[in-house]
Formats: sequence, C-alpha cells, structure tokens
Amino acid sequence: MRPILFSVPFLTGMETGYVGQVLESDHWHGDGAFTERATQRLRELTDASHVLTTTSCTHALELAALLLDVGVGDEVICPTFTFTSTATAIAIRGATPVFVDSDPLTMNLNPDAVAAAITPRTKAVFAVHYGGIPVAVDQLIPLCERNGLAFVEDNAHGFGATYRGRPLGSFGDLAALSFHDTKNVAMGEGGALLFNNATFADRAEIIREKGTNRSAFLRGAVDKYTWVDQGSSYLPAELLAAVLCAQLEGFETIQALRHRVWSRYDLELAAWARSFGVTQMFVPPEVEHPAHLYYLMMPTSDDQQGLIRHLRSLGITATFHYQPLDQSPAGSRVGRTPFECSVAHDQAGRLVRLPLHANLSEEDVSRVVDGVRSYVPVACSLPA
Ligand SMILES: Cc1ncc(COP(=O)(O)O)c(C=O)c1O
Repeated sequence: MRPILFSVPFLTGMETGYVGQVLESDHWHGDGAFTERATQRLRELTDASHVLTTTSCTHALELAALLLDVGVGDEVICPTFTFTSTATAIAIRGATPVFVDSDPLTMNLNPDAVAAAITPRTKAVFAVHYGGIPVAVDQLIPLCERNGLAFVEDNAHGFGATYRGRPLGSFGDLAALSFHDTKNVAMGEGGALLFNNATFADRAEIIREKGTNRSAFLRGAVDKYTWVDQGSSYLPAELLAAVLCAQLEGFETIQALRHRVWSRYDLELAAWARSFGVTQMFVPPEVEHPAHLYYLMMPTSDDQQGLIRHLRSLGITATFHYQPLDQSPAGSRVGRTPFECSVAHDQAGRLVRLPLHANLSEEDVSRVVDGVRSYVPVACSLPA
C-alpha cells in the first residue's frame, strides 16, 4: 500500500532553474535579486510596507523581540498551545513567557484570559493564528492599546489568510511568517518579518545583518559598515531566496491545490463527524482560511490515539499537534502560568491533524476520507 505522507513540499517547477541561476552567479549570500523579487511579492500578498526575509519564523520572532527591547524583568503573554518558538523568542531575551489558555472554538488565545494575565511587567502579547484562523484581534488589539502593549502576530500558519478582507500579519505591530517545508510556501527553513511602522525599519535591517549597518553601506548611504547595535545572522542565503521566489510565483496554484483537499475533508467527513461526536475545524465568519491544516477534535484522548493508529494501519500519517508549553519541562521552568490552561490541556489531547499538502491526489484524499470514516470512536464501539 502506497503511504500517504502527512506533509510533502510542492514543487512549482521553477525552483531548480532559479537555484541554478544563483549557483552560476557570484552572489550566493543573502539580499540579491531573488530576495528582492520575493520581498516585493510578499509585500503585495501581505499588504506590509516593510518585509524582511529571515532564516526562519523563529528568527523573525526573535528579531521582533529584539526590536521591542523585550528583556530581563519583562513578561510577554503567549498561548500555551503553540510551537516552542513563540515562547523561546521571549525566553532567549531573558524575559518571562506567560502562558494563557485557548478559546475552545479556535484554539487561539482566549482574550479574557489575556486581560486577566496582564501585570505591570507585561510588555507585549505574542499571538498565534492557529491553522490560519485569526486570533480575536477585535478584542486583543484594543486591549493591547489600552495597556500600552505591543501586539506581535506569530503568523507561521496564516500566510494567505484574511479576516474581513485584510491579510493576517497586517494587524500587529510586527508579524512573523514561516517558510519551513511543512508550510504552504516553503524554502526548507525560512521566514519573514512584516511591519508597517517605519520606525522599526533601520534597526530591523541592522539586527538582521549581525548588528551592522551593512545594508545602508550597500545602498551607498554610509562609507563603511561597522557594528552598531544588537544583532544576529537572520538573513537567508540567495540560494534559498530563489526557492522562495519560485514558490511565491506559484502561490495561487499551491493554494488552489490545498483548498481542494481541505474542502473535500470538510464536506466528506461532516456526516461521520456529526454521528460520532467529532468536531470539525471551525472557520468563523468573515475569514478566508489558508488551507494550512485540517484537524478533527475527537471525543476523547483515546480516540486521538485510536484514529492516528487506525490511519497508520492504512498507510496514512495523521498526527497530534502541540503539547501545551506550560506543561513542558522548559516552559514550567522559565515561564509563568497564572491560571490553569484546562481548555488547551484537554484539546491538545484530542486533536488529530490529517495529511494536507498540494501533492495529494483525488485518490489520496478519498483514501484518507474512507480511512477516517471507517474509524468508530471508542464510546460508540462499546457494547451498550
Ligand atoms: C505557531 C508557530 N510558530 C513558529 C513556528 C516556527 O517556524 P520556523 O520553523 O519557521 O522557525 C512554528 C512551526 O511550525 C509554528 O507552528
């Protein structure tokens, strides 16, 4: 039986040619012509006036924390249900990640829990749009404004999504994208930092270029370049920018192929889900989701494991997702959790993600749908 993998990067057909052009040039390092082309395309797709490609979303988040001067003694509120990077970007500055529970419908930050977690030490909120479904920006942005907090979007999942017609990543003071090869647009490892506030611009390019004003020097704005600020090596090589460029130029194709899979899952699993008490991924009104992931909320944690095992026996890889950070060894050591995160703990133990990528054929999708439908949740399989 041919295995159906969980995630496989999609080739638009332009990648090899573009990488070849870089290899044949004398410019393999970052910020060459492909970086410029990819950056321009990202500006168009995200509505951000400033876009800096980075070596990962993790690094874009670190760059955001540096720009906001997050440091020792500060607290930054973030979801407990997220990837480690949302919190490591805070902890690596010596600040304290403060873990907050999820909204049960979206798995995103619960805005009431965020409000309750604010202290005089709170400096920012790092929010995630889980699965590209927007966090409660209508509540969180005014809350941040009232309390003088920066609002950062960890938009690793939401590239291509909109809320009320506005791209995710355009709501916060700063936003981070991921182009890891599990994402819709991939360059192996990579990301971008987005912002609209020009006051960040000079400092962001310095931090990204090892703390130097090399970018200003290359533009002819200064005679020599030197160490002027904090910094690290967050600039991706041109070889990877070439891959990113190819992917962005094929973005509409990638999205159409992924939406086809997402919509079939949603439609074809609806009756099965209803009859077995399984909850399908929720898309609120006025949201265009990015078809980044598709999940099912199983009735029990035994069913999470049961469905994953059942699909594995059929050659299909399905997975759970984040383990809540407040319960992780490092999170409990360096973070603070003011209130119990019972929603996240419960849902993390029941969520199953189905394979979703642009390479899945119609036949693959049918196999996944049939595989899921042939699973009977534990409570329903017990004799009455
Ligand atoms: C919410 C979230 N933030 C950040 C990251 C890290 O992205 P990257 O691998 O590009 O650093 C991930 C990875 O999947 C993620 O899910």
